[in-house]
Formats: sequence, C-alpha cells, structure tokens
Amino acid sequence: MQKTIIEPFRIKMVEPISMTTTSQRRKFLEDAHYNPFLLHSDQVIIDLLTDSGTSAMSANQWGGIMRGDESYAGAKSWERFNSVISHITGFKHILPTHQGRAAERILYTHLGGKGKIFISNTHFDTTRANIEYTGAKAFDCPHPESDNHDSDYPFKGDIDMETVKELVDEWGSENVSAIILTVTNNSGGGQPVSMHNARELSAFCREKGIYMVLDCCRIAENSYFIKHKEPGFEKKTYKQIASEMFSLADAAVMSAKKDALVNMGGFLAVNDETLARECTNVLIISEGYATYGGLSGRDMEAIAIGFEEVFREDYLHYRIKSTTYVGEKLNEMGVPVLMPIGGHAVYVDAKKFYPVIPVDQYPGQRLACDLYIAGGIRSCEIGSVMFGKYDKKGKLIPARQELVRLAIPRRVYTQSHMDYVIETFEMLMEHRNKQFGFKITYEPPFLRHFTAHFSPCGNC
Ligand code: F0G
Repeated sequence: MQKTIIEPFRIKMVEPISMTTTSQRRKFLEDAHYNPFLLHSDQVIIDLLTDSGTSAMSANQWGGIMRGDESYAGAKSWERFNSVISHITGFKHILPTHQGRAAERILYTHLGGKGKIFISNTHFDTTRANIEYTGAKAFDCPHPESDNHDSDYPFKGDIDMETVKELVDEWGSENVSAIILTVTNNSGGGQPVSMHNARELSAFCREKGIYMVLDCCRIAENSYFIKHKEPGFEKKTYKQIASEMFSLADAAVMSAKKDALVNMGGFLAVNDETLARECTNVLIISEGYATYGGLSGRDMEAIAIGFEEVFREDYLHYRIKSTTYVGEKLNEMGVPVLMPIGGHAVYVDAKKFYPVIPVDQYPGQRLACDLYIAGGIRSCEIGSVMFGKYDKKGKLIPARQELVRLAIPRRVYTQSHMDYVIETFEMLMEHRNKQFGFKITYEPPFLRHFTAHFSPCGNC
C-alpha cells in the first residue's frame, strides 16, 4: 500500500491567489492597524485565519444548492436538513440558525442571566461573550494536561471534572445554567475530548439536574481521535461515535461552518419540548420562521449533504493527517507547537517563540503580524488579545496561554501551500530574539480582537 496520503478529491474550479511582496504587505498591515482581521482577503496569500465558513464544497453540495426549495414554510430542503441532523444527533427538535453564535445566543439567553454560571472545558470567544452579555459568568475548566504543551496525552480537550465539581458545590447546582462540552476544544488548542470524559460529565449532570450542552462544531474531527486513540472504539464508525456523544447531552449548538463543510449555517438541537418551544419563539423573532431560521433552502441542502460527507473515512483521514503534517514538520524544526496536533489547526506557543516579548505587548499578535509580513500568511492570535481582561487599575490580566492558531480550511489548500507555510516559519525561526510587541490603541468592549487597533512598541 502506498505511503502517500492524497487529497481524496480532484479540483474542478480554482480561485486565484493574488501574490504580494514583503514591502506591499508591510503597508497593508500598517493600514490594517496591525490587526490581520482588518486586512482585505486579496492582500493575503494563504489564509489560515479560520477554518470556519472557508471550506470548499463538493460537487454534490453544489448540486444540492440548485435543488434548494425556498418555500417559506415546510420546504423540502428543510425536511432533508431536519432528517439528516435528527438522524445523526438523535435530538428531537432541530432549530436552524444562520451560524453557531445565533444558536448560542438563543440558548444561553434563555438559560443565563445575573447570578447564573456556565462551565466549560474552554468557552470559545462568542460563547463567552453570549454568556457574559446575559449577566452570567463563564468558568473554564480545562484538563490540567492542557498546560503541558509537550506531553503526548491524547485527550487534552477533556473537561477537568474535579474543578467542575468544586464549582458546582460552590455555586449550587440550581445556579449552574449549563455545562458546555466543546468538541474539539477550540480555544484550548483544538484538542479532542474523550468519550470517557463526556460520559463522566453526562452522568454528573444528570445526577445534579444540570443541562449538558455539546458544542459540536468539530464533532467529526473529534470522533476521528476517539476511534484512533481511545480503547474500545476501534471498530465503531465515526458516525456511531458522534451519535453516542450526542446521546450524552441535553442540547447541542452547531456552527455548520466547520464540520458540515459549508460557508454559512448552524443549528440548535434540543430534546426538551418546553425548551424547544421557547427557543423557537426567539428563533422566529430574531432569525426566521421555524423551518428555515437564518438559512435559505439551498444552505440547508448543502448542510444536509456536508454533514454526511464529513464522516467519510477517506475525508477524515486526509483531513487529520494533513493538519498533523504541518504541525509535525514545525515541531521537528523546533517551532514550539502544542502537541499532539489537533484536528483543525496547529497552535504555536507565541510566548515560547518570542520569549523576550512581554505578555502585555502581546507576543501572539507579533507572531501573527510577522507571519503575514514574511509570507502573506494570515493567522489568528488566541491569547491575551482575544481573552485578556483588565483589573480595576487597568492592568492586563493575561490569558492562560499566548497562542497563534494556524487554522486549516477544509479541502482548500494543497500540500505545496502547506510547505510554503512551513518555509515561512523557517525564515522566522532565524529571528526569535524580537524585543517588543504591540500596544492596543483602540478596542471595543466585547470581542475586541476582531476590530482592535494596534501600534508597534518599536520598529517592526
Ligand atoms: N463554538 C466554537 C467552538 C467555535 O469554534 C465557533 C466559531 C463558534 C462556536 C461560533 O460559531 O462562527 O458559526 O458563529 N469559531 C470560529 C473560529 C469563528 O474561527 O474558530 P459561528
């Protein structure tokens, strides 16, 4: 059998990349206030900002788009969407939303409010923002192994049950709105969550009468890790593994922009009749009628097809192995990456990459900017820009980690694109004694990383 793992698809349509020079990129970045989110996409050569909504759809999905039934109520496309999602997730009520955060807003506004808390392995930024917006508090309980970037512990995405129990004791289970298990754990380094951990959490939640919510946007990728790394799952299909995980939760929020292989869409899935009814009322006010939510018929078709395709063995094998390829090459070169490599992204430890840059000058932002200048590569800081807070005196309370995420869009880039990324890191590796980073010159009150402005604390 051949050793080379090939992309299990042929390319039918191409999108040109506009090539730029280093000096052009310096100017573009300055104009974007040193925030890669503010760059224009044609100023970027390889876009690893996110794996969300950036997938290439299959011929089958594009075929589905033409079949989209745009009836306001009871469209056939809705029926296909509902049937695929109910079948895989096992949930009774599926509410279509325009993306993941809409599902989060509907559910967490309903469950949250002042005096309430939410607990998660790690809240994603929109999850935390939607919770805090209701006046509730959000507590992260990552597994202790997740801080050890070099260990090969396979399920660093697990929630730490000890801390969960302490928090529930401290706040009282009646004040815990929900415990959210995010699979894979995106903000915790894209690491998978084991079935063992999900089962333990589910049993605990059922005993205490607390809602368990699955943030399932990368559940197919998570299932791959369970099948290959958790004893007892070798013979199960990826879909069976996903279905078991869904069966442990009371509700699921999904950004279809990830593991449903589409550019837009999401859903909220619940079992409880009353909760479903109340959430449907909010859906109708803010997203759209119950059988389309925030989506057009063609979007629902594409999701129905994508959410089946993502569980294909050849696809998942290629997907995980190609992310691992980039991560392991960088690791071999001495780039401090989070090991083992997760499913959708490679995370670089920017604090280790630039050890001299102080945390309050955002080493991750510096690395993201340097990657852009050196290679036109757009990445995303996941550190104190994204999660930092201020104390009462305005001093930065840093995030737990200073990471830069190289998120790999699904079915979009080839191996030579990834070799180019690796080569760009080779160039940066020669200049790791950078002294300074950035200061923030403008920031909004929520989700500041999207729109903040920066200026360098020296000459870039
Ligand atoms: N939950 C997780 C774990 C996510 O990663 C995201 C989005 C969301 C919820 C929100 O979904 O974007 O459809 O509203 N993550 C993207 C990312 C933006 O780049 O990781 P959305």
